[in-house]
Amino acid sequence: MRVGVIGCGAIGSVIVKAARLEGFAEIVALYDKHVEKAQKLAENAFVAKNFDEFIDIDMDVVVEAASQQAVEAYAEKILERADLMMMSVGALANDELLNRIERAAKKNNRRIYLPSGAVAGLDALKSVSSVADEVVLTTRKNPASLKGAPFFDIYGINPNEIKGETLLFEGSARQAVKLFPQNINVAAAVSLAGIGFDRTKVRIIADPKIKTNIHEVRVKGEFGEIVAITNNVPSQQNPKTSYLAALSAVRTLKNIGQRIVVGT
Ligand SMILES: NC(=O)c1ccc[n+]([C@@H]2O[C@H](COP(=O)([O-])OP(=O)(O)OC[C@H]3O[C@@H](n4cnc5c(N)ncnc54)[C@H](O)[C@@H]3O)[C@@H](O)[C@H]2O)c1
Repeated sequence: MRVGVIGCGAIGSVIVKAARLEGFAEIVALYDKHVEKAQKLAENAFVAKNFDEFIDIDMDVVVEAASQQAVEAYAEKILERADLMMMSVGALANDELLNRIERAAKKNNRRIYLPSGAVAGLDALKSVSSVADEVVLTTRKNPASLKGAPFFDIYGINPNEIKGETLLFEGSARQAVKLFPQNINVAAAVSLAGIGFDRTKVRIIADPKIKTNIHEVRVKGEFGEIVAITNNVPSQQNPKTSYLAALSAVRTLKNIGQRIVVGT
């Protein structure tokens, strides 16, 4: 499987190193807007100076591990040439972009892979999505990890002044992704796997005592109840990204080339 990677940061570099070490994919091309980051990982791969050079390379799958802007700018062009594995899943909270990307995949007969990323439980959530009555994602983070979220300006709250465990937000995933863009990938993955952005409830809790990012997915319906808790250690290269997200990307890429795929 010939793979190209856009974005050579925390997730991209884990993918490239794992593919070389384990041999499940041949990394043929790399592109990063900071070209030196791609050069550092290059070995035998072609290092593109711009997207047009990158997309000219013959590839089976392109991995996007860059940004939501990269998804907006490149996804449709990628789908004309290759399948797409996307890490910046939060970009799909925009219905118009989601529809465009889905149309491009259909037109070109391509597949789009969205790894579970930093959250567990999506396998079971996918299975029960047609019969789930309630999906609640509760995210706990240190207030420092939530800094910069538009929520704080809108409600006049200073994250430095949060002293104990505090429920900051409770509402739909659709509202949550606007107020807390830092949580957007997990909220988007849960919404897309389950019952959508409007019916999925999100709770954001700030807790100055914790250093990890904790996501709890709770699903109820006629099938029973699912509770999946993930206690995430941040990636060393990018503290905003959980190490699990990179591992999940590697697993998804491995699945593409496997004859037996375990799990839903
Ligand atoms: N699905 C999930 O659960 C999950 C979890 C963590 C991160 N993410 C997302 O994955 C993406 C990558 O995360 P990361 O931690 O590796 O980030 P990072 O900042 O460590 O690396 C991203 C790299 O992409 C490059 N880049 C950004 N925009 C680009 C563009 N338009 N064109 C070319 N290169 C570009 C940057 O220069 C950087 O080197 C982010 O969008 C992040 O939000 C998803």
